[in-house]
Amino acid sequence: MGIEKLIRKELVSFGGYSAAASPEVLEGKIEVAVKDIIKIDANENPYGCSPRVNKALAHYPQFNIYPDDGQEKLRQSIAGYAGADMKRIVAGNGSNQLIDLLIRLLVNPGDEVINCTPTFGIYSFSTKLCNGILVEIPRDDNFNIDIAKVKAAITPKTKIIFVTNPNNPTGNLTPQKDIVTLLDTGVPVVVDEAYYEFSRQTIMPLIGKYENLIVLRTFSKWAGLAGLRVGYGVFPEAIADFILRIKIPYNVNVAAQVAVGESLRDVDYLLASVQKLIAERERLAAQLQKISWLRVYPTQSNFIFCRVQNINAKDLHKQLQMKGILVRYFDQPRIQDCIRFSVGKPEHTDALIKTLREIGG
Ligand SMILES: Cc1ncc(COP(=O)(O)O)c(C=O)c1O
Repeated sequence: MGIEKLIRKELVSFGGYSAAASPEVLEGKIEVAVKDIIKIDANENPYGCSPRVNKALAHYPQFNIYPDDGQEKLRQSIAGYAGADMKRIVAGNGSNQLIDLLIRLLVNPGDEVINCTPTFGIYSFSTKLCNGILVEIPRDDNFNIDIAKVKAAITPKTKIIFVTNPNNPTGNLTPQKDIVTLLDTGVPVVVDEAYYEFSRQTIMPLIGKYENLIVLRTFSKWAGLAGLRVGYGVFPEAIADFILRIKIPYNVNVAAQVAVGESLRDVDYLLASVQKLIAERERLAAQLQKISWLRVYPTQSNFIFCRVQNINAKDLHKQLQMKGILVRYFDQPRIQDCIRFSVGKPEHTDALIKTLREIGG
């Protein structure tokens, strides 16, 4: 009898989340040294975090003491930045953790979660872990959400509708009026604004008007803190209170809490990096558009989604990886012939375009 027999039977075939490969695991397997890898596969910020963060962490005297479990100072500073009451705010070990906690809080086995595919993978990951039922509403050919179809899919068992804005991996926005249509149904709507600082479109002003609205954001992208894992959610007050109760104690570590404080004292610096990335996004898009075998989708984010024609996208991903350029490939229905490129520095754009030309002409 193997110990595997004890595993919940619905998890036996669970595939897990397929995360982007870490550069260090590629050591010796590709044509370039790890230090020369161009990592444009996880929408990270190539300009890094605020220098204030490095300085504060280098001198922080109390890593031996647990962080404030109630996240009081952290939530207060996020409240100031997000323009929402701190009683509504909870920080997570990445916004991933808040997605997971919310699903665990609301979704009983057999309850339904509406997911507008293709989209970010964690919504389905955590729904499956909770034995919820994923109701997948495919986006249209331009990856817009079919709002009428989403509304028609709502049943008494629907617990959450996820709207990623802008969407990952496709980069496009859902118009505010469409989100309002969903909010008017009364079902909890999670608007995941992980890339808000790049799109500048937010539903945050409607917090307070709609008690079924939840907004998620992260410090991973604009603030360059992906490695420290910190995101936040703005919830109805009662839900925030419950999320605080069910989260693991000390879920946001001291380094992350210090880093957020310093980042929020250096917003102008960080937004200047965001501006550089937005400018580079436009340059990268223009360069990609000149490649005849790529179809480039419009984006309001820090990445660009492309359909690959004539070349196998999975092979292209592998070939780029061999040459030290990491990009994101999704082995999923409808996007098996697509690649997502995160926006890097100008020299990353140049190297990518040169290598794409070498591979595909
Ligand atoms: C749409 C979306 N939501 C949430 C996240 C998770 O971010 P975090 O690093 O805060 O967990 C990501 C990260 O890629 C994302 O693309």
